[in-house]
Amino acid sequence: MTIDNIIKIRNVSFTYPDAKEPAINNVTFDIERGSWTSIIGHNGSGKSTIIRLINGLLDAGENANSKIEVDGIRLTQKTVWDIRNRVGVVFQNPDNQFVGATVADDVAFGLENRGVSRLEMMKIVPKAIAAVGMSEYADSEPGSLSGGQKQRVAIAGIIAIKPKIIILDEATSMLDPDGRSQVLQIVQQMKDKYGLTVIAITHDIDETALADQVLVMNDGQIVTQGKPESVFKKTKLLNELGLTVPFFQQVKKDLQSNAINIPNTINSEKELINYLCQLNSKK
Ligand SMILES: Nc1ncnc2c1ncn2[C@@H]1O[C@H](COP(=O)(O)OP(=O)(O)OP(=O)(O)O)[C@@H](O)[C@H]1O
Ligand SMILES: [Mg+2]
Repeated sequence: MTIDNIIKIRNVSFTYPDAKEPAINNVTFDIERGSWTSIIGHNGSGKSTIIRLINGLLDAGENANSKIEVDGIRLTQKTVWDIRNRVGVVFQNPDNQFVGATVADDVAFGLENRGVSRLEMMKIVPKAIAAVGMSEYADSEPGSLSGGQKQRVAIAGIIAIKPKIIILDEATSMLDPDGRSQVLQIVQQMKDKYGLTVIAITHDIDETALADQVLVMNDGQIVTQGKPESVFKKTKLLNELGLTVPFFQQVKKDLQSNAINIPNTINSEKELINYLCQLNSKK
């Protein structure tokens, strides 16, 4: 079976005006339709820049060797709006994403911009707000909501546009643990319900457990990529890049280096706990 890649990035580079070094340096990768990809990397490694290139907020210029393709459409100045309808981005700061006076107005904003009729909007908006569990706040002022609720409203605004890809650029990093898990849960639900493709830039290493694929960036390049379990085995590389590995991976490694054999099939905290309990009961 051939793999259906919704995003194809080929040999893409980008240098900010006046910058000496490229922020993105000859990057190539694919993202499979319907998958969840986590992007990790230290500050300034190029994570946000690659996202801005994908939805055309930044322009890598056109040349024969490089391309950005989203949902089968090559990104050019002509197709940028077409592509933006397919890609919704939730940013880090919940307070910077509101334009409407009420939650409902805010969610309607993107539709209004796209010339959707009032009648259509009245159908779409309440559904999108319900999907993120915010119906009782439809008439509230966005400013009165918690950080997690604000991010859920931002997600509703994106869902209303019916995108194919949702990108979270550290969208949970300013939230408390409850807000964070609620937002991630909503995104997971939206992914399952609408077959969305998710790209999540994160500093929260445990969040990468949700991913099918992890991309690790450093100095504008992808230094390694793969399934979370294979990426997090590379503890030496990750440590060199100043990145932590998930807690259970670290425990597993420490046990292994103390001659306690943990099978490589153990790939989550829960599996590790179960395995250790079994070991203990066999003694
Ligand atoms: N608007 C800008 N103008 C000039 N240089 C920029 C601009 N935005 C980012 N850069 C530079 O480009 C490089 C990549 O930045 P980018 O914001 O993509 O990193 P990041 O991985 O998202 O970092 P963080 O984890 O801090 O969000 C950095 O060297 C940064 O200083
Ligand atoms: Mg960033």
